Amino acid sequence: MPSAPNPVDSGIRGWLADEVTDDLSFATLDLHDESPANTARLDGWLDAILRGFHQGRPTDEFRAKWLRVARADGAVNRGVWDTNPLGLSNDVPVATFAHLTKTLNAGAAQVEAWMITDVTVAPTHRRRGLMRRLMTENLDAAVAAGVPVAVLTASEGSIYQRFGFGPATREARLRVDTSSRFRLRSVPDDGGRVVMADPVESWPALSGVFDRHHDVTRGALGRPAYYEDWLRGYDWDEQSESRKQRVAVRIGPDGRADGYVVYEIKSGDEVEVKVHDLVSATPTAYLSLWQFLADIDLARVVVGPAPAVDPLALALVDHRVRRVTSMPDHLWVRILDAPAALEARPWFADGSLTLRVEDPLDHADGVVRVTARDGRASVTATTDEPDVTLDVETLGTLYLGDVTVDAMARAGRVTGNDESLGRFAALADGSPSPHCNTHF
Ligand SMILES: CC(C)(COP(=O)(O)OP(=O)(O)OC[C@H]1O[C@@H](n2cnc3c(N)ncnc32)[C@H](O)[C@@H]1OP(=O)(O)O)[C@@H](O)C(=O)NCCC(=O)NCCS
Repeated sequence: MPSAPNPVDSGIRGWLADEVTDDLSFATLDLHDESPANTARLDGWLDAILRGFHQGRPTDEFRAKWLRVARADGAVNRGVWDTNPLGLSNDVPVATFAHLTKTLNAGAAQVEAWMITDVTVAPTHRRRGLMRRLMTENLDAAVAAGVPVAVLTASEGSIYQRFGFGPATREARLRVDTSSRFRLRSVPDDGGRVVMADPVESWPALSGVFDRHHDVTRGALGRPAYYEDWLRGYDWDEQSESRKQRVAVRIGPDGRADGYVVYEIKSGDEVEVKVHDLVSATPTAYLSLWQFLADIDLARVVVGPAPAVDPLALALVDHRVRRVTSMPDHLWVRILDAPAALEARPWFADGSLTLRVEDPLDHADGVVRVTARDGRASVTATTDEPDVTLDVETLGTLYLGDVTVDAMARAGRVTGNDESLGRFAALADGSPSPHCNTHF
């Protein structure tokens, strides 16, 4: 895996500088310094993450894999260390924060997305503003780097709105009865086929399928490097190789891989197929992989993730075999540069509208004019009167099209007269609905 350039050397340190206060030391890690002192710091940082997310302490193999992945992603990892005189906390920081960048398919173009992750604060240091400080300085760094959109996934639903993030995609959790009740209205047949593959050797094919999926799917986000180890069979939660993971690849009619599913069979009272990852680049590949899952003998149930708006529900003869057990929010979007972000999303009517965006952190604050034509828009700052007003969190939730303008207006979160709201809806709302299946 090639290493990305070291961001600590490429200027980011100016924004995320080391600093010592009365009892705390803020620092950005150097992932490439292999001195014993720095290795101890890296190990401590990793310990803090696993502790924050209630996972076990890392094995040496896990540490080595984590470091390789962080380097490959060009991740920027920041921590806060307690400088207490007893030295009891050693190298384990009391707060952690990281980001990396990948691209987000915004529907009309790819935008660079600043992916925030590994946000933890130790129980001894919570609620004294550490996360707020790390977040605000990190968003400042994103703006300085010219990245138009920040994204994260959230463990709780009321933490990140205050920083301008809005939940922008959802992901369904399915439980599908694959007994004889499972029947598709028509069996997908375009001349392609599904083949079983070796988990270790199939990575290049899987990675190629994801790239195709990313190119054609609104809301798809580039994946961190940990996916390679995972899909080759390394279980990051258990910190060991999984011998149960299986892979099936769908070969399209042109002989290229256009879908895959990675799954395992769980035995219990009921034998269950647990889908870890199902990715497709075409609708036919998607339904073919579901037919494949339903055809696995001795198992009568498939559980796994699915798009919020799922073609499977409409392709079944009896839609009740497919049950949505939950539908959590998934990707949260924070618009940092409204013109650049809005120009990358699709527009569904020709016309013009002025939007007043309110941003307590100032990054996207102001009025912009959207002038849309033939599916794309040019978006510029203006001093004209606004037609509609919304805050930056609401703009983030509307960005990928998971929620309509009309629904937001009914919730009182977009204001304007009826004509302006109708124009905004006509311009902004349209299919496809987004699907993000990248977890970080
Ligand atoms: C969530 C967590 C990072 C918060 O860190 P923290 O340093 O205590 O947060 P801060 O003191 O900087 O609080 C900043 C703001 O967020 C609010 N906040 C913090 N945690 C919150 C929570 N769990 N729910 C709702 N609001 C929260 C604070 O009230 C504060 O609001 P204000 O500034 O508007 O008054 C920390 O509790 C933690 O590590 N939790 C476990 C891991 C986790 O859930 N990480 C998030 C992964 S996405």
